[in-house]
Amino acid sequence: MGRYSLKLTVMKKIVFATHNKNKLAEIRNILKNYDVVGLRDIGCETDIVEDGDTLQDNAKIKADFVTNNYHLNCFADDTGLEVEALDGAPGVYSARYAGEGCSYHDNVVKMLAAMKGKTNRKARFRTVIALNLDGKQYFFEGIVNGKITEEEHGDGGFGYDPIFQPDGFEETFAEMSMEVKNKISHRGRAVQKLCEFLNI
Ligand code: IMP
Repeated sequence: MGRYSLKLTVMKKIVFATHNKNKLAEIRNILKNYDVVGLRDIGCETDIVEDGDTLQDNAKIKADFVTNNYHLNCFADDTGLEVEALDGAPGVYSARYAGEGCSYHDNVVKMLAAMKGKTNRKARFRTVIALNLDGKQYFFEGIVNGKITEEEHGDGGFGYDPIFQPDGFEETFAEMSMEVKNKISHRGRAVQKLCEFLNI
């Protein structure tokens, strides 16, 4: 009779502080060693108020909310578009650049108006991830440099994608496949760093 050995691997649970199903699916695909759950999976319906002054503050606020209230390991992300000619605006206010409750397109229209006639069109997307793991806090940053185009191009993606052209490419993010965008994007780069750290 042969011998059977049963190797049990207990996956560590970690919360990604998001209600966004796409972001969750993307991370689950990469973080194979962890049982990644979203806010809804832990019974959290709260819309956590992101009122920090920096991307790092907001990522920390979200991760700490979960760890303090649910006593779980958690990570959270926050992203901003930083435009050189606008002194780094809209930055941490990227989601509501055109006002509270505005649409992605309202933001694009406002950005094109703000950049009208400007020759310096350099911009970057920056994502910060805060991770609370076993009582310690870590931060990871991802940046992609590029420029604000003169007009909208492409209909993929979301947010400022139709007017952001990453360095080294002829297309805007909105004209790229999601695969290509994820490889070079701010969020993709921050997530890669998080995953390298967690997968050790
Ligand atoms: P969040 O922190 O991921 O919610 O991003 C804040 C805001 O930044 C969003 O509401 C978008 O306007 C913008 N944003 C974030 N990521 C991207 C992206 O990959 N492409 C275009 N816009 C983005």
